[in-house]
Amino acid sequence: MPTSRRLWLSAAVAILAPFGSGLRAAELYENGPASLDGIGKRYMGREISGVMGWQGAGWLEREEREREERTDVLLRLLQLSPGMVVADIGAGTGYLARRMAAQVRPGGQVLAVDVQPQMLRMLEKLSREPGLELIKPSLGAPDDVRLAAGTVDLAIMVDVYHELAFPKEVLASIRRALKPTGRLVFVEYRAEDPKVPIKPLHKMSEAQVRREAEANGFAWQATRNDLPWQHFIVFGR
Ligand SMILES: C[S@@+](CC[C@H](N)C(=O)[O-])C[C@H]1O[C@@H](n2cnc3c(N)ncnc32)[C@H](O)[C@@H]1O
Repeated sequence: MPTSRRLWLSAAVAILAPFGSGLRAAELYENGPASLDGIGKRYMGREISGVMGWQGAGWLEREEREREERTDVLLRLLQLSPGMVVADIGAGTGYLARRMAAQVRPGGQVLAVDVQPQMLRMLEKLSREPGLELIKPSLGAPDDVRLAAGTVDLAIMVDVYHELAFPKEVLASIRRALKPTGRLVFVEYRAEDPKVPIKPLHKMSEAQVRREAEANGFAWQATRNDLPWQHFIVFGR
């Protein structure tokens, strides 16, 4: 390599070095042995869990869910209003999408995104009721929510983020889809609480959620601890 090019390169490395470690943690995925519920791929120190298969969909619609997770409280925390466009990322069978629909009527929309077509088919079936026409099922890619840029007031992931195989790409696609004033809400089972009866890789600590979201450009706004099992963490775009 010519000396001038070598000098230029070492200068560039020296300038970038102080920023190197911070950038790399957010940029990199690492692969290692997979644990029981994990895929072996790690992001910012956390092993990503396997996706909950559509075969387990009954659990999402279980009768005791309202009491266990207090989805009525969750809905209050979201502060939805008529006309809002809400993106339910990883909507599953639409348990939450159906409940949010009532609050954005009239004029609003619930964009129900999932990567499993089987889940979306169940969601469609369960949403065939008057008033639920504003739920729009939408097939996402594992690394892209595939929503139009700048259109979403509120994106929410309930029990989803920990199982995204491409978290940083999905977060980038959510940021693109949000309006400038848009919010992103994470609802994740609390890793800090051993009494929450959920497998470890399907839980997340508040610190880990903040670390990953902030490393991908989101600005923390609030954490609420009103739910019995889950964190409710809000970020601005
Ligand atoms: C545990 S379920 C939760 C479903 C729903 N949010 C609920 O609380 O009832 C997780 C869902 O996330 C979906 N999912 C996983 N990776 C996804 C991705 N990259 N984009 C969209 N959905 C995804 C899965 O297919 C599954 O339906």
